[in-house]
Amino acid sequence: MKLNVNGKVAVITGGSRGLGLNCAEVLVKNGAKSVYITSRKQQAVNESVEFLKGVAKQYNPSCKVVGIASDVSNGEGVKKFAQQVASQEDKVDILIANAGASWGAPLMKHPESAFDKVMDLNVKGVFLTIQAFYPLLKKAGTVDYSSRVLIMGSITGIKPDAMDGGTYGYTASKAGVMHLGKCLALELGPQNINVNLLAPGFFPTKMSNGLLEKIGDTFVQNNPKKRLGRQEDIESVVLFFCAKESDYINGAVIPIDGGAHVGDAPKSSKL
Ligand SMILES: NC(=O)c1ccc[n+]([C@@H]2O[C@H](COP(=O)([O-])OP(=O)(O)OC[C@H]3O[C@@H](n4cnc5c(N)ncnc54)[C@H](OP(=O)(O)O)[C@@H]3O)[C@@H](O)[C@H]2O)c1
Repeated sequence: MKLNVNGKVAVITGGSRGLGLNCAEVLVKNGAKSVYITSRKQQAVNESVEFLKGVAKQYNPSCKVVGIASDVSNGEGVKKFAQQVASQEDKVDILIANAGASWGAPLMKHPESAFDKVMDLNVKGVFLTIQAFYPLLKKAGTVDYSSRVLIMGSITGIKPDAMDGGTYGYTASKAGVMHLGKCLALELGPQNINVNLLAPGFFPTKMSNGLLEKIGDTFVQNNPKKRLGRQEDIESVVLFFCAKESDYINGAVIPIDGGAHVGDAPKSSKL
């Protein structure tokens, strides 16, 4: 079975780097008709569009890649982004609500403004993005191919951990947004829009690098697969969840973490 997203229109928030860029790349490579990315910084968006156009040239020359700089943590930015996509497409098959931010500070020093910033982007922004794209997603969804919403959650939204990094708002935001996604799956599933939740473990990106430096190789040592996540780990899951073969999967939470959400690997094996 060869999975593909042939002819699909895809939108990815936070697509300028990290996991969002990985999502965009795999969709460009595997047949998407158009891929739209957004992030706040125009230059970063332009550079990523150039990179994705290079990927398209090699794998999918007719793929259109568009970058729109916008802040999706507030209604105005989300609206601007959605309107610009709507001016070029009459439907959207795939929405990946990926943009996210984190903040770490000890309990008694954790600023209210940081908590707000994280919740605004990771929860409210995801809700507003799905709301804004709903009309275009509804136009795309059919009984043969439900349009897709993928929400980038996190294993921290599934498995409580001691707050070593002081990421209070982040962990709450990821639990919250994943619960929101499940509720939307119930509401939108009957309208041929599937909503699924991805829950990555640690992948080396700009967001996670600071924490990874702090905890050293603890995560790798404790991880049942003894490694961090890799680009292909995200890409294979994203492609499957956007391809028609996953049409009956709705409201699922998919940990992509080597099994870390289940528990720690044993320190040594007696086998
Ligand atoms: N890396 C991991 O280990 C890991 C683990 C679990 C979950 N996740 C989740 O995966 C998603 C992507 O994380 P990442 O590690 O790839 O992070 P990243 O490298 O920091 O990338 C975040 C992306 O979001 C964009 N962004 C940030 N604030 C934005 C805003 N207000 N409006 C629009 N775009 C915005 C960034 O661009 P600008 O700064 O230019 O706006 C960038 O493109 C997040 O939801 C994160 O919580 C990551």
